[in-house]
Amino acid sequence: MDKKELYEQAINEFKASLDETGELIPRMATLVAILKDKFSYYLWCGFYFVEDKDLVVGPYQGLKACPIIGYGGVCGAAAKKKGKIIVPDVHKFPGHIVCDARSKSEMVIPVFDKEKRLVAVFDIDSDKKDSFDNTDSKYVEQIVKLLF
Ligand code: SME
Repeated sequence: MDKKELYEQAINEFKASLDETGELIPRMATLVAILKDKFSYYLWCGFYFVEDKDLVVGPYQGLKACPIIGYGGVCGAAAKKKGKIIVPDVHKFPGHIVCDARSKSEMVIPVFDKEKRLVAVFDIDSDKKDSFDNTDSKYVEQIVKLLF
């Protein structure tokens, strides 16, 4: 299956779970479980909540992550920009924060609620370089909208 088909499958599975709870954190937890299981190139995926001074970790799948990362790293840059960031090689991104040394590429997608407030960022790491492209960002942007 190509990544488009996998994302379509993930969207259908996630939609089928939405009636189980309307709450944000359980929905986030369900979403990371679905995505991490489906994509072999996802090394880590999870949310960082946007708080006043810091990004604070939310539901995730993968090795233990740094719980509080200020507004640093790729996540901080995406939060400040309020836009997606795709990093083909994390070692070339100034200020990249290493949580799992195996991570080689990364994509961060901002998460907006229905009122268009930035509430979190969704971070995905891969253990291979150049794993993420516009297909990943398009589908992930679509799927995080379903959280609300
Ligand atoms: N690499 C991220 C930090 C979070 S971890 O990858 C889970 C960054 O540079 O923002």
